[in-house]
Amino acid sequence: MDPSRLKGKVAVVTGIGNGIGQGIALMFARQGAQVVGCDIDAAAAQATLQGAHAEGLAIDSVHPLDLADPASAPRLVAHAVQRHGGLDILVNAAAFAVFAWIEQMRYEDWRRTLTGELDLVFLACQAAWPHLVQRGGGAIVNFASVNAYVALQGSAALAHCAGKGGVLAMTRQLAMEGGPHRIRCNTISPGFIVTGATRHHLDTVPELLGHVLAKKMLKRVGQPEDVAWLASFLVSDEASWITGSDYAIDGGARAW
Ligand SMILES: NC(=O)c1ccc[n+]([C@@H]2O[C@H](COP(=O)([O-])OP(=O)(O)OC[C@H]3O[C@@H](n4cnc5c(N)ncnc54)[C@H](O)[C@@H]3O)[C@@H](O)[C@H]2O)c1
Repeated sequence: MDPSRLKGKVAVVTGIGNGIGQGIALMFARQGAQVVGCDIDAAAAQATLQGAHAEGLAIDSVHPLDLADPASAPRLVAHAVQRHGGLDILVNAAAFAVFAWIEQMRYEDWRRTLTGELDLVFLACQAAWPHLVQRGGGAIVNFASVNAYVALQGSAALAHCAGKGGVLAMTRQLAMEGGPHRIRCNTISPGFIVTGATRHHLDTVPELLGHVLAKKMLKRVGQPEDVAWLASFLVSDEASWITGSDYAIDGGARAW
């Protein structure tokens, strides 16, 4: 680990209270970034800050913050810019989805999921954009999913799939709009990563783990750290010619 790989960069990471956002916030801080996080779950965000503190790292956070409120992302970004003098990186890891089969999916849950998958990302990108322009460039990482490409047997992911397909397409468009400003926009498409969100699915659908592992060439599920390494690369100067791309990190699931 290079403790200066992201030195001098200010990174906003959403959803630091759990899973992938937590893993990324800690990994970025270990590599020298100044991280400003947020989460709707104040206790979870606080636990991440304590974990960082125990490692001798300082992560800043605004919580509780509901990113579905259009006033929230501007508040988060303003906090980062005021406190740390600018913004270089945005990672949108916060998301919310209701999983239900089409027969049971209530329209309000469909709408909530599209808000949780799409609006959260749009609102944060829009809030960060002028600051990235002002900085002369930056990096945005959004989360699509293997579910934007293929269906997983046993997973009632209808609305989630729709949202992730949207994130994938939206990020390509953002990359095009960001090009002249040197704002690089990419997606990461994870396969099954063990987080707060997916642990619940494993508990409630006992056969799911078998379906998941059957799709993995590397016969294990992913960990937040696996994804955090990829995100670290994508926001670093090593990736300065990468934009408009999607990166699979799924143990081989999409390849067969
Ligand atoms: N875990 C996986 O297997 C997997 C696979 C593919 C894609 N993804 C995507 O990766 C990203 C991170 O997933 P995860 O599994 O770590 O999720 P998670 O549910 O474990 O963590 C998400 C965090 O976002 C926070 N959050 C939710 N709604 C919020 C809101 N309105 N405002 C602020 N914070 C809010 C939650 O409190 C939580 O701490 C998501 O976009 C997810 O869809 C995850």
